Amino acid sequence: MTTDPTSVPAVRVRGLRRAFGDRAVLDDLRLDIARGEFVALLGASGSGKTTLLRILGALDGADGGEVLVPEARTIVFQEPRLVPSKRVLANVTAALPRNRSADGLRALAEVGLERHSEAWPATLSGGEAQRVALARALVREPELLLLDEPFAALDALTRLKMQDLVGELCRRHRPAVLLVTHDVEEAVRLADRVAVLRDGRLVTDETVGIARPRDPGDPAFAALRRRLLADLGVDAPAPFLPSPVPAEAGVI
Ligand SMILES: Nc1ncnc2c1ncn2[C@@H]1O[C@H](COP(=O)(O)OP(=O)(O)O)[C@@H](O)[C@H]1O
Ligand SMILES: [Mg+2]
Repeated sequence: MTTDPTSVPAVRVRGLRRAFGDRAVLDDLRLDIARGEFVALLGASGSGKTTLLRILGALDGADGGEVLVPEARTIVFQEPRLVPSKRVLANVTAALPRNRSADGLRALAEVGLERHSEAWPATLSGGEAQRVALARALVREPELLLLDEPFAALDALTRLKMQDLVGELCRRHRPAVLLVTHDVEEAVRLADRVAVLRDGRLVTDETVGIARPRDPGDPAFAALRRRLLADLGVDAPAPFLPSPVPAEAGVI
């Protein structure tokens, strides 16, 4: 009997546990990510998102459970973490064997920065630096791309452009993606599936069945956004009602 290799998920996590002191941050967590699938992971601050990402990236160990991930995986963090003493192209190719400048330049072209290949990191804007970090991740052709709030430090307009760029690059290169974010709209815009991490496990894990490009004005988008906010423990804002003015207000 043969196994269809495409049916083997890129990521398979079962019964994952990670505790700090006597607090289990991840507790019996289960997650599968198919090859080429884009999963967004939402969770409140401190819910364990980075802890999970670090375990999947082998930067940290687990206290129990099973974690299967591909060998070829890379992480992009909230801050670009470029080496200031290396020029942009050298940053992109740092983890590659020698003589791979052409691959580095191609990756820079994909993020629109080929003209900056000889620039120093200190001369880049925040968005440009983060695009270099993305090029450095993609040039290694990862089967799993781990993104830890990669847009959180960017201004609103740059963030939207970066979201589009990441969506486009992931559709082209088809790595499995785990995007950690606390931005519900970002998750619904980009992901094939969204999950919510709460109390150590995924309380929601839902396929996003909304056609792309996704419009936040679409009722299906708004409904999913509302549901996810509720799962995160945030009530959707009530309609604005002016508070009644006491009759004696203004009378001194
Ligand atoms: N190395 C560590 N030692 C002790 N506590 C930690 C460590 N790393 C994370 N934590 C704690 O685990 C919880 C989850 O952290 P984290 O995964 O960074 O959350 P998130 O990324 O969702 O904001 C937090 O309460 C944090 O303080
Ligand atoms: Mg975090």
